[in-house]
Amino acid sequence: MSRKTPDLEGYIAPGSEEESIVREIDLTRLPAHVAIIMDGNGRWAQSRRLPRVQGHRAGIEAVRDVVEASARLGLEVLTLYAFSKENWKRPRAEITTLMMLLKEYLRRELQTLVRNDIRFNVIGQMEELDRSVQRELLAGMRETRDLKGMVFNIALSYGGRAEIVEACRRLIRDRESLSAPGSDRPPSVASVASVASIPSIPSIPSIPSIDEETFAQYLYTAGQPDPDLLIRTSGEMRISNFLLWQIAYAEIWVTDTLWPDFRKRELFRAIRDYQKRDRRYGGVPQAAQAPGRSAAAPKENKEKRRVV
Ligand code: FPP
Repeated sequence: MSRKTPDLEGYIAPGSEEESIVREIDLTRLPAHVAIIMDGNGRWAQSRRLPRVQGHRAGIEAVRDVVEASARLGLEVLTLYAFSKENWKRPRAEITTLMMLLKEYLRRELQTLVRNDIRFNVIGQMEELDRSVQRELLAGMRETRDLKGMVFNIALSYGGRAEIVEACRRLIRDRESLSAPGSDRPPSVASVASVASIPSIPSIPSIPSIDEETFAQYLYTAGQPDPDLLIRTSGEMRISNFLLWQIAYAEIWVTDTLWPDFRKRELFRAIRDYQKRDRRYGGVPQAAQAPGRSAAAPKENKEKRRVV
């Protein structure tokens, strides 16, 4: 997974607020992975006396803006929480519209993603989605599979607990396949989603060798750095079952802005504020350490994390 150099030339209006925020950002210390809980579409619509689905429609513009800004900054991974497992409880008509918007987004934006070298990826129980949506998503993943720029994960029918349970199942299944007579089948093939988004496991781990790093290889985000920064819009202070394993050390940034009003300016603010945080990973502040010692990131992630 490679990080691109920022490409902001001509992108940010001179003299704009965006420009002054970006000037405060150290472009050599960007978060590798930013994850966003997009929230507030319904309230945005209600405050304008519009049907809730108009909020989702308006939210697409925010998605476009944030995907482009993230890719131009050179983030390695952007993950957007678009539809949780719990969202299936919403009225049928709202779900249908959301899925329609998703298909529309992909049809319209796929070529832009390709032009910008963005790899599109779905995380979640994709097999629960309507077949026509699955087809569109799989086509998007196929078409961008070999691109080397930012990975754009979209979480659909996603639940953090379900992801962990599924990872356990796949790990156990792999172990069982070892003892099955005459079995030489390749490890870890489960759902449509996992076929599409989880790289195959190089070898089946022995029980004593199963550690956090091995386990993470069974998650949808295998091979990706954990989120450094988690953004939530609309002022809610909840995690909502999002990337439960992966956000162990993420910095959380919450804004009152409702998702349809979220734009690159706020993304830049979040990154600027993130860079001011003292990330300790359970250690002590850098200033309090003996000379020559650095704050230790958790062992299994040492290579992926830079202490900020
Ligand atoms: C939360 O707002 C938002 C969602 C559940 C869906 C997010 C979907 C989009 C932004 C559009 C489609 C996405 C893509 C990637 C094309 P809410 O409805 O929970 O708002 P509320 O809390 O104000 O009711």
